[in-house]
Amino acid sequence: MEKIDNYVPRSIDDYDRLYKESVTNPEFFWEKIALSFIWRKKWNNVLSFDFNKPEFTWFNGGKLNISENCLDRHLLDKPNQTAILFEPNDPKEKHQEISYRELHERVCRFSNVLKKNNINKGDRVCLYMPMVPELAIAVLACSRIGAVHSVVFAGFSSTALAARISDADCKMLITADGSFRGNKTIDLKSIADEALVSCKSVKVSIILKRINSNIKLNKIDKWWHDEISMVSNQCEPVGIDSEDPLFILYTSGSTGKPKGMVHSCGGYMVYSEYSFKNVFQYKRGDIYWCTADIGWITGHSYIVYGPLLSGATTVMFEGVPSYPDFGRFWEICEKHNITHFYTAPTAIRALAKHPKSFVSKYNLNSLKVLGTVGEPINEEAWNWYNEVVGKKTCPIVDTWWQTETGGIMISSIAGVTDQKPTFATKPMIGIQPVLLDNNGKEISENGKEGVLAIKYPWPSIARTIYGDHERYKNVYFSAYPGYYFPGDGALTDSNGNYRITGRVDDVVIVSGHNLGTAPIEDAINLHENVVESALVGFPHEIKGNALYAFVILKDDSKSDNISKEINKLISSTIGPIAKPEKIQLVPGLPKTRSGKIMRRILRKIACGEKDNFGDISTLLNPEIVKVIVDKN
Ligand code: WTA
Repeated sequence: MEKIDNYVPRSIDDYDRLYKESVTNPEFFWEKIALSFIWRKKWNNVLSFDFNKPEFTWFNGGKLNISENCLDRHLLDKPNQTAILFEPNDPKEKHQEISYRELHERVCRFSNVLKKNNINKGDRVCLYMPMVPELAIAVLACSRIGAVHSVVFAGFSSTALAARISDADCKMLITADGSFRGNKTIDLKSIADEALVSCKSVKVSIILKRINSNIKLNKIDKWWHDEISMVSNQCEPVGIDSEDPLFILYTSGSTGKPKGMVHSCGGYMVYSEYSFKNVFQYKRGDIYWCTADIGWITGHSYIVYGPLLSGATTVMFEGVPSYPDFGRFWEICEKHNITHFYTAPTAIRALAKHPKSFVSKYNLNSLKVLGTVGEPINEEAWNWYNEVVGKKTCPIVDTWWQTETGGIMISSIAGVTDQKPTFATKPMIGIQPVLLDNNGKEISENGKEGVLAIKYPWPSIARTIYGDHERYKNVYFSAYPGYYFPGDGALTDSNGNYRITGRVDDVVIVSGHNLGTAPIEDAINLHENVVESALVGFPHEIKGNALYAFVILKDDSKSDNISKEINKLISSTIGPIAKPEKIQLVPGLPKTRSGKIMRRILRKIACGEKDNFGDISTLLNPEIVKVIVDKN
């Protein structure tokens, strides 16, 4: 059997050699990596692809079970090692250490609960849960029986939840009686109940008791604890086709409804373990903590699958960085001797605002590797992270990737390849990024700027958008035929290091969360006094970007509570994360003659620019620009 560790670089020379191998003969390379996993049946061919269709298959014909690779595989050599270390919201509540043996048992048990409730291979199951071990257990149980999990971030509103459940036609919803968040509790159950009013596909709902609220069960509801008491703790993993879907995860697009990105089993498995081991250089005994929520891709790939496939100890944190105070992250690092800490730039910026004593109070000597994800990190935040948290002794990996890519695509490799503040640096082994110019031609020299594209498939590329392959094609493969187009701009330095400069479409990354502007505008437009609105992003000290809404009212005399009402609408249709930082009432919006809103101009106004809008004479209504600027 091949050992994956033989392909994990430990020096720059290793990286150079392996990278070369991976792009010279990708199929041969990935085949060797894939052979280190348990396959119930070997594949017929490693890769087939067509960027125009688009279609990608990896390890086609092979059968595997990803939960077997996450759990059963480790029972021989590390049954008693902690798989999941759970740190609750309340520091006074005891933390939990769940060994691989126990996790295996609990996943098997819950797999039987799924089966008992008529969930079969291919059925979609929606998870709307707090960050507790049962969320990871439910995810793994779905994968064990071949059900497709769709985790919806528990900060989304009932409308957003309902849209996701309906889009995927989920048969089951797993949720909780509530969740703890800092000093608040969130009533997940009522939100779920509201969502289910319009979701007739859901036949059963399993409810985890977490906050002991006095909820009433509906006809379709069953308690998690009752269900698991009725089934055995043994469940044989079954072989699932490599190309069968493993999960759906929704991400916002620049237009219309959220996109249900579909990831498949085999390629995702291979890439999540390989990329985890590469980037983080995890060694046995290390305690790895990614602060993301499992409701996002980072949690899928680098809290659950990547670490567990690697046999690591992965930390799940239920709370927030500010509770009970701004030292919570560092308190947890000291308490559990965290070696690897992976978070978002927005969290770093928020914490850097507070006195350094919140950090220095704790002994952070166990830390070896720091990571960031989700948005570009500015130099100031990078320096604070490096100096105050890492004491200049921990490499920082700035990892660029997306829900769609399934795993990290561009990043330095901790302690192995060079880091450079604000640069994600070099492609991962097996990943072939390029910069394209305005005409879609590859830019071959270093030190240039362009749009980022990927010119060769990798195992964990999302295979489609659930129920809408045409949209998948249009969004990612049409603008630059023959490439995957992620929607980000980038530049390279003279050594070919990549720096991601930000989105080139109408997606704004707020606090590391991907927000399409169109659905938020739709929410604003629901207000009976709103004629039209336009939303743009502008730089924000802590959030990275914040949202600025320009709104035209029907009746300006009724504008007293308009901001409050708009915010309420947005919270209830999408979630509080999508609330704009600023709302400006305007008499009109700058438009092209074909009626398209000129967001480029609005972005400048949002940034505080007073003139310098370039040639606006081609606008339908150039005079409106000055009016908006004057009122800004
Ligand atoms: C942005 C998160 C700069 C980027 C894993 C991408 C980043 C979008 C970085 C995907 C980074 C993510 N530097 N920008 N290190 N990481 N992004 O799908 O714009 O939630 O397209 O996946 O976040 O966000 P998503």
